[in-house]
Amino acid sequence: MADYDVIIIGAGPGGYVCAIRCAQLGLKTAVVEGRETLGGTCLNVGCIPSKALLHATHSLHEAQAHFAEMGLKGKSPSVDWKQMQAYKQNTVSQNTKGIEFLFKKNKVDWLKGWATLPEAGKVQVGEEIHNAKNIVIATGSKPATLPGVETDEKVIVTSTGALSLPKIPKSLVVIGAGVIGLELGSVYARLGADVTVIEYLDHITPGLDGELAKTLMRSLKKQGIKFVLGAAVQKAEALKTKAKLTYRLRKDDSEHQIDADVVLVATGRKPFTDGLGLEALGLKFTDRGQIATDDRWRTNIPGIYAIGDVIEGPMLAHKAEDEGMAVAEVIAGRAGHVNYAVIPGVIYTAPEVASVGKTEEELKAEGRAYKAGKFPFMGNARAKAMFAGEGFVKILADSETDRILGAHIIGPNAGEIIHEICVAMEFGAAAEDIALTCHAHPTVSEAVREAALACGDGAIHA
Ligand code: NAI
Repeated sequence: MADYDVIIIGAGPGGYVCAIRCAQLGLKTAVVEGRETLGGTCLNVGCIPSKALLHATHSLHEAQAHFAEMGLKGKSPSVDWKQMQAYKQNTVSQNTKGIEFLFKKNKVDWLKGWATLPEAGKVQVGEEIHNAKNIVIATGSKPATLPGVETDEKVIVTSTGALSLPKIPKSLVVIGAGVIGLELGSVYARLGADVTVIEYLDHITPGLDGELAKTLMRSLKKQGIKFVLGAAVQKAEALKTKAKLTYRLRKDDSEHQIDADVVLVATGRKPFTDGLGLEALGLKFTDRGQIATDDRWRTNIPGIYAIGDVIEGPMLAHKAEDEGMAVAEVIAGRAGHVNYAVIPGVIYTAPEVASVGKTEEELKAEGRAYKAGKFPFMGNARAKAMFAGEGFVKILADSETDRILGAHIIGPNAGEIIHEICVAMEFGAAAEDIALTCHAHPTVSEAVREAALACGDGAIHA
């Protein structure tokens, strides 16, 4: 038993970042984590392993599609799935060990086990009860379940199972055309699987700017991924070696069936608070099962805070990290701030997709007068040299003030080049500010400047 200034429950991106910042601010800090390794869903079975598989399979696709044209000849690579899995796991391990090192460096204690909160100010881990002046709940989320579809992580899988399939399936049906479905669908399509994505809505990636969603779907279709839109999944049954899935088309209520070696359920995630004993404590939840917090991440119980996927807002690692740093500052008596209007979202498909701020649909719904400056990557020399001329940058700016309201990119390095727009938005910049900033040539970032120029007198290369 020990006394702490702060005990954080959960060592995902929200929790571990919060812990490091708390320690840096001079608070005696511990993190409770029951997994064998630190890093939470993102590092162990989410963002990082999926990026390893996306990188490996994108490299394979590049070799197959472009090497010969670039004069790189020879046998095209074949896939050693076991080795690709080992590379993925090695990537994960390097990062989980990295957090352990950072904990030691910053003198953050790792309390190994699953926490319960017997009362405010106390955290129980196994037999031990620790006193904590402040408790931060950062327990993340788990896959949402779908009625009629039971996952077994073998034939009917969540993203966790999909990252570690024993072999590459010949056919994969994905339920849900959201971020997980499209990223993992891309991985297996590049590995030769016949991939069909079944989506309830009549478009993919809800919440994304409509023009981006359409362009992405067109591109994924060209890569061989099939889409069934407007389809409600009724049930999925795991047979011996296959799964059978039944869905109804919403437009005519007709029933259809589809077989696949593997079914991936990717219909969203929900807050994970099982076993903490929060109900008994009287902690308040929203009607969507999230822990209710105020604008300083305080719950209704003094001394208990919550951040990340367990509270409202986008379920994104970097949103949780920002909240982790901010709540540490609040606990240390500082201001602590997160600007929820400038949180980028990235889909790591090829082409990559990145978005920040308002979509055109949102601006229209608000009745806001805006202008859209758009620039296609086909006009960008660097992108063309990389066979990545597909897609565009779109900057949305206020018609009168020119202030940037949002930006939407589909194309090469979208997830990297979006950040200059994020910084610009944090400074309340106008599109002209980006247009007047010298951008190195030849870079794909020039497309961002061109889109900004298109908000004014016009892009040069379009
Ligand atoms: P999502 O919310 O992105 O997409 C779920 C999709 O499933 C939606 O299009 C929805 O309309 C559809 N759907 C729901 N019920 C359905 C049904 N019965 N039949 C057919 N379609 C149905 O959720 P996803 O992809 O599972 O991701 C979960 C969370 O993880 C998200 O919040 C996402 O932002 C986050 N994530 C973020 C990543 C990134 O930032 N690159 C990568 C992976 C996940």
